[in-house]
Amino acid sequence: MPPRMVVTIDGTVGSGKSTAAAGLAARLGAAHLDTGAMYRALTLKALDAGADLEDARALAAMAASTEIELDGTPGALRVRLDGRDVSAAIRENRVSTNSHYLARTAGVRRVLVEKQRALARRAGSIVTEGRDQGTVVFPDADVKFFLDAAPEVRARRRQLELQDRGEYKSYREVLAEIVERDRRDSTRAADPLRPAETAVRVDTSDMTVDQMVDALARIVGERAGGGTFRKEAP
Ligand code: DC
Repeated sequence: MPPRMVVTIDGTVGSGKSTAAAGLAARLGAAHLDTGAMYRALTLKALDAGADLEDARALAAMAASTEIELDGTPGALRVRLDGRDVSAAIRENRVSTNSHYLARTAGVRRVLVEKQRALARRAGSIVTEGRDQGTVVFPDADVKFFLDAAPEVRARRRQLELQDRGEYKSYREVLAEIVERDRRDSTRAADPLRPAETAVRVDTSDMTVDQMVDALARIVGERAGGGTFRKEAP
């Protein structure tokens, strides 16, 4: 049987999940699964179709009949929605601020959780990130992380990320937005954001990207006893 390991990274908006997951996956030679991209892709489809975002049944039906493909390498993920490349469009702020409608819909989550497990079954080792990866989707994961950082730091990161894409917003506006997004993620009934019991909690407020990836890779190495991954860290 090929060596196989599942690492989950859950956390708040701007905690560094995606960067950490991409870096860790690259370091370990594992696949990277960005589950937020799936919720974003469905949100984009619903927005473009002018769908009623309060209609749970219609959203779930849409999720079941939508094809979402993720490929590319860690850090250079490509996302296709019904065959169309939406890698850039799903990062627009209108998608970020409306994704909670899809994320709170249990029928949508059921469809996406199934897709996520299927992708993981096909991958060798995998680093998967989101809100519910350690708690719901992969309860038996080998290593679980929960990332967080001070809201001020997360707002600054998010503001820079938006700026990079040509979207300019005040710091105060971005801070209010991420606090609200976290509140929605952690208080919804369906699979809310919370640390898994056995998750290693990491505060990334004062960490550079390299420090973050180093810290996570070290913990994985300790847990795995080395050698479990298909490819060793360089
Ligand atoms: O991590 P992100 O900002 O790309 O996530 C987009 C949205 O999807 C956000 O509303 C949280 C939600 N999400 C979720 O509910 N469960 C996941 N596993 C991943 C993301």
